Amino acid sequence: MERMKKMRVAVLGSTGFLGEQILEVLSQEKNYEIVLLSGYRNIDKLLHQMRVLRPRYAFSPYFMGKEEKDYISGTRLIKEIGVLQKIILDEEIEGVFFATGGISFLELFLDLLDTQKWLWVASKEMIILAGEIKPRDFFQQRGNFIPLDSEHNALWQMFRMVQKETVHRVYLTASGGPFYDWQGKLSDITPEMALAHPNWRMGAKITIDSANLINKGLEVIEASIIFGLDFQNLDVIVQKESCIHALLELKDGFTLALLSPPDMRSVIFNALHPERNVPNPFRLSDFFRFGTLHFDYPVPSRFSGFYLALEAGKRASGYPTLFCGADEVCVQAFLKRRITFDEIPLIIERVLERNIPGPRNVEEVKKVYRLGMKIAEDLITERSISG
Ligand SMILES: NC(=O)c1ccc[n+]([C@@H]2O[C@H](COP(=O)([O-])OP(=O)(O)OC[C@H]3O[C@@H](n4cnc5c(N)ncnc54)[C@H](OP(=O)(O)O)[C@@H]3O)[C@@H](O)[C@H]2O)c1
Repeated sequence: MERMKKMRVAVLGSTGFLGEQILEVLSQEKNYEIVLLSGYRNIDKLLHQMRVLRPRYAFSPYFMGKEEKDYISGTRLIKEIGVLQKIILDEEIEGVFFATGGISFLELFLDLLDTQKWLWVASKEMIILAGEIKPRDFFQQRGNFIPLDSEHNALWQMFRMVQKETVHRVYLTASGGPFYDWQGKLSDITPEMALAHPNWRMGAKITIDSANLINKGLEVIEASIIFGLDFQNLDVIVQKESCIHALLELKDGFTLALLSPPDMRSVIFNALHPERNVPNPFRLSDFFRFGTLHFDYPVPSRFSGFYLALEAGKRASGYPTLFCGADEVCVQAFLKRRITFDEIPLIIERVLERNIPGPRNVEEVKKVYRLGMKIAEDLITERSISG
């Protein structure tokens, strides 16, 4: 994006693993100005970012009086989400990065989708929830929307190279996570073991979701929403090195693959320079390091959470949202050792047994999400009482 004037951008989730990488990439760019940072609980990190980057605005609902002493001249501290929404929707901010966990910015995200501001979005739950109420081809029609999940970003890059009608099948790749070849009992897997992902550095929620491949199931739903794809044309292939991010099998028998080392900074960099005319200062492909590329197919049935997510995606009508709410609670319960690793999909399966009406607006989507959380929480509590 060659521009005379700097594009003013907001980074939501700047204190997270991905948010920090977005800041690292943006701070080397001369065409972008970071005007707003948003964190959540990690106030020290947010204050540090504010001192270095001096944005005009910084948001956290956890700002307390003491930060006022550390007030950095020129940065307005925002605690109210309503005020944040108003500032971001204002003309002044031209692009927004979504790298937050949770769904607390869902309304803001939906409002932004109806503008023409640039959106770079990694927050998959938010896309899944928005997909409940947006028309099927919404994301393809909108433009100025770049997915930041590496697989979806790879698909976004490849769909720019071919006509959608020429595509026969779409494959997202999965590393398989730390337990793909695990021979022991799934119930013996501790939070510490599950938090050690072999290829990517990420926050706790997405790392646990990656360890049981629920993340990959959520990504299939996300891809179906962003690219308007049917589930029968979407599949997952295990590619252990995380070097191929997605594959497009074309009708003429050829397959496109997008390769790069597993480094989100390259994904972010490409999202800022999709026309590919600026050299990437981050890691470039080193095929000698990979040596051999390994593929495996299909995802083994013991990763039942992956298949439950697919089922929820195919059922649609609120079930993807119900799934996300239940999964959020289950991951936190596993991290607190209230349930075991293998119980995560067992609880979600029980939650999905519930009959729900399909949500028609954002309030109903949030209601279904909270219902998923509540049923999962009740099942976990019941289990703690009986166990
Ligand atoms: N990390 C990756 O490589 C990667 C790749 C693809 C997609 N993603 C997606 O990107 C998102 C962030 O991932 P991550 O690995 O960076 O996670 P993370 O390290 O846990 O960071 C989450 C960020 O969101 C903020 N946050 C948490 N709860 C919030 C809430 N209720 N309201 C507002 N902000 C909240 C956190 O603030 P505090 O830390 O200040 O509490 C932090 O800035 C997730 O949706 C993930 O699925 C990440």
